Amino acid sequence: MTSYCRDGFTFVPIINAELITTDLHKAAEALKQNNIIALPTETVYGLAGNAFEPEAIEKIFSLKKRPFYNPLIVHIKSAEYMTHIAKDIPEIAFRVAMEFWPGPLTLVLNKKSIVPDIITAGKDTVAVRMPNHPVTLELLNSLDFPLAAPSANPFGSISPTTAAHVARYFGEDLEVVLDGGECLKGIESTIIGFEGEQAVLYRLGSISAEDLEHVVGKLKHHTSDDSAPAAPGMLSRHYAPSTETFLTQDVNEMVLSHPDKKIGLLLFQENSISQNVAHTEVLSKEGDLNEAARNLYAAMHRLDHLNLDIIIAEKLPEEELGKSINDRLKRAVKK
Ligand code: TXA
Ligand code: MG
Repeated sequence: MTSYCRDGFTFVPIINAELITTDLHKAAEALKQNNIIALPTETVYGLAGNAFEPEAIEKIFSLKKRPFYNPLIVHIKSAEYMTHIAKDIPEIAFRVAMEFWPGPLTLVLNKKSIVPDIITAGKDTVAVRMPNHPVTLELLNSLDFPLAAPSANPFGSISPTTAAHVARYFGEDLEVVLDGGECLKGIESTIIGFEGEQAVLYRLGSISAEDLEHVVGKLKHHTSDDSAPAAPGMLSRHYAPSTETFLTQDVNEMVLSHPDKKIGLLLFQENSISQNVAHTEVLSKEGDLNEAARNLYAAMHRLDHLNLDIIIAEKLPEEELGKSINDRLKRAVKK
């Protein structure tokens, strides 16, 4: 008999009824066998494997259909553990880790040789973070290795913020999806690197640039293009629904210019448009950017499963987490 799990207002068929679990022992055993599991973090769900075992890491790349030039983030159990996998760590990196860990901040540091090259795509730097989710912290504390984990979505598609999203993507390929509820932050970690004691922003994320700058001073912005992305989350098309998506400041006008389409709206605050619209998602009625970030991917998943002709997304204010959300929406739109 097929089981179903709830995903917003839709139900997802689960091929393996025991797939979604809270059994940490089962998760740890799978990881020790070099198998891949899905786990919750405060940002998005990850596809995790033993960071010290190239065989496990290869499985992550093949499951995600991720090109090998895209390095992975290593998830660690404590700030002190940073020194096991990274060297020449600048003083500012310790300071920022003390301030934001456990939490949605990833640090790019010089790697030690214990980190397999496949994780770092041959780079001499490694991305590291201590996630802030009780389930995953407990799991990390039960293991004697750190976990490499990219977001648990096929390369380029919408990131997952519930166990059901992961089951929908990878239900047939995984044996364990650790359930930690809905991700409280909802968009990926902010990534920074260092040039000496100068912090360099690689990817906008769940910690706003403004909050970081209170601790590290003025951030330098890393510039890159698609031929040499600093971080592939920076590829111009990423986080993308399969439904054609538009981003605009003037939703009304965009709706009027698509009279014959079945339209879904992704709005920041109140919904004032209902004519000619099949479905509307509002990210935060109160206009709270944290709430909007938390709801973003789940709303995109729902819209993408409604057989719409197009999705029209409203641009958020270019401040604090609004910048990070706009960054994701821009990449969702680009062809
Ligand atoms: O919130 C998150 O960061 C989630 C959760 C699961 O922790 N993970 C995540 O992983 O977003 P992923 O693989 O989807 O994105 C990791 C980003 C990629 O854009 C990758 O290029 C960048 O981190 N990255 C990894 N190692 C790097 C390095 N050595 N230098 C620059 N960027 C790096
Ligand atoms: Mg990702």
